[in-house]
Amino acid sequence: MKIDILTLFPEMFAPLEHSIVGKARDKGLLEISYHNFRDHAEKARHVDDEPYGGGQGMLLRAQPIFDCMEQIEQKNPRVILLDPAGRTFNQTYAEELAQEEQLIFICGHYEGYDERIKSLVTDEVSLGDYVLTGGELAAMTMIDATVRLIPEVIGKEASHTDDSFSSGLLEYPQYTRPYDFRGMQVPEVLMSGHHEKIRQWRLYQSLKKTYQRRPDLLVGYPLTVEESQMLEQIEKES
Ligand code: ADE
Repeated sequence: MKIDILTLFPEMFAPLEHSIVGKARDKGLLEISYHNFRDHAEKARHVDDEPYGGGQGMLLRAQPIFDCMEQIEQKNPRVILLDPAGRTFNQTYAEELAQEEQLIFICGHYEGYDERIKSLVTDEVSLGDYVLTGGELAAMTMIDATVRLIPEVIGKEASHTDDSFSSGLLEYPQYTRPYDFRGMQVPEVLMSGHHEKIRQWRLYQSLKKTYQRRPDLLVGYPLTVEESQMLEQIEKES
């Protein structure tokens, strides 16, 4: 995958040099290029200006972004504008982006964008219902969540198919050695070696956690007969 990032602060992206994303770059599975659009600004390098019609704050001007985009080699990319008014990012969205060959992120740092910038954009994306100081942290979060889903980025041994959200449910509790840690013991079923019982226990725990913490995820979730029965049990218990 090729990722191009338009930003005034390329140095903020140091986290992408480390851990799994850093290794994906080392392995040649991912190439990231930074483009400081201040270098493309005409008019004494101003990237922002006051809004027509008045109002508070400064807006990102269209010219530096357009000129910067023209210099980037584009192979049918998704062009993502980070904006709190965009579509909310989630795991399904990350899975969709992981299929793409090229992603371009446009990170703003002002009160907003000149609306004409949006003619360059395929996706306006928000990380959540809060306002960040800029799009950089949102872009990094999206890149992290997306890149780990590219085949071969995470080894087979560390599959992500059981992750919270990838099945539509939150992940079940997990334990590792020792069996007894400060008086807290691992549930017996996990020590039993009985694969079917372990599967049932994990599914039950996933459903219970989702029911308690994120009941919204169960709305529209296609329950199997087994899951419906488990959910009835969970409802009774609570
Ligand atoms: N820029 C500022 N706030 C943001 C948010 N919540 N998501 C994406 N980009 C942003």
